[in-house]
Amino acid sequence: MPRDLAVGIHDLSFATGQLVLTHETLAARNGTELGKYHVGIGQRSMSVPAADEDIVTMGAVAAAPILARHGADRIRTVVFATESSVDQAKAAGIHVHSLLSMPSATRVVELKQACYGGTAALQFAIGLVHRDPSQQVLVIASDVSKYELDQPGEATQGAAAVAMLISADPALVRIEETSGVFTADIMDFWRPNYLTTALVDGKESVSAYLQAMDGAWKDYTEQGGRAFDEFAAFCYHQPFTKMAHKAHRALLESCGREVDEAEVVRAVGQTTAYNEEIGNSYTASVYLGLAALLDNADDLTGQAIGLLSYGSGSVAEFFAGVPVPGYRAHLRSEQHREAIARRRDIGYADYRERHQQAFPVDGGDHPAPRETTGPYRLAGLFGHKRVYEPR
Ligand code: CAA
Repeated sequence: MPRDLAVGIHDLSFATGQLVLTHETLAARNGTELGKYHVGIGQRSMSVPAADEDIVTMGAVAAAPILARHGADRIRTVVFATESSVDQAKAAGIHVHSLLSMPSATRVVELKQACYGGTAALQFAIGLVHRDPSQQVLVIASDVSKYELDQPGEATQGAAAVAMLISADPALVRIEETSGVFTADIMDFWRPNYLTTALVDGKESVSAYLQAMDGAWKDYTEQGGRAFDEFAAFCYHQPFTKMAHKAHRALLESCGREVDEAEVVRAVGQTTAYNEEIGNSYTASVYLGLAALLDNADDLTGQAIGLLSYGSGSVAEFFAGVPVPGYRAHLRSEQHREAIARRRDIGYADYRERHQQAFPVDGGDHPAPRETTGPYRLAGLFGHKRVYEPR
């Protein structure tokens, strides 16, 4: 295997739900000071899927522009990472494969480990490309984050999908081989099969995140990774964007550095623009952070970016990506900003009503209301089967 082969992200595209609830509305209606949301947790709005949108339709919308640009001929694997899965057996990626008319000579699989699943998919994809550099892998990380109403987690909901084409000689970001990993058996956040909303011990989850990050960073340095000062910026998993600030402060401390707030903002400030508008997108979150950085920062060619992926339960991984010469010509900045800007603002009453809605579980036929203006929709549940269609 050629160890010096460059493998990484050849293309990156994201999609989000078509509806939005602002934190201004939420704060006005639940009596929270707006500063807690805008400053304390660093969130301004949260995406909400339309009635006929879900992780599959968002994943298809995210991936379609990648197939339009590169074709599907070299893609022999689709890995769909999610923690808001729509079936216990069938991979959601097969619905995407079908909606996008991809070739039958493809393996499609779904991966789960909370918000870490997207990074597992990326790393496994890199391994496959090393085995045969003529192949590409389509990675899709798609999630709808949903907590109980009137609980602290409510303000950190969101929805988005990121699609990434993993390839040799990538056009955007080369992913370095060294990575640091960490696993601990902890119940900080989970969702039993019988619940549609996640359970979380909020404060415990924040400290579990920081502990896992510390473990992953230490392993990264023991594996011979780059020194702290070599990184131009850090993309952290962002369940809420202030978590990136907390994480970077903790990393500074762990590296024996002075915690200088200006330095924290310099390191993470350009990674939060999309997440603060979209909310938590679980598996997609750290890659929305990467998209925001690439779309908004000055030229980062050749400069190392640190990526920290965290999935409750818990697994963390720290690794580095390096933007390659010419990457800026391949970005989808306009598409990304447009996906956020075109969302329809829903009022509080509408949001709460939607939050309570779920398909009946009686095995009957339940068409979904026609709502999305996107290219793919969930037609409904018919005889226990989810049916998707082009719109
Ligand atoms: N102006 C400015 N700041 C204010 C404020 C105001 N008026 N009022 C409060 N704040 C600040 C607080 O001081 C606090 O700051 P620090 O975190 O720096 O102490 C911040 O706003 C949040 O306030 P609280 O701690 O009182 O908030 P909370 O009790 O409502 O809980 C939370 C916050 C725990 C993050 C909660 O939203 C939650 O449970 N979220 C879901 C779980 C989560 O996101 N965990 C993250 C780690 S787990 C993970 O990463 C996996 C995943 O994706 C879920």
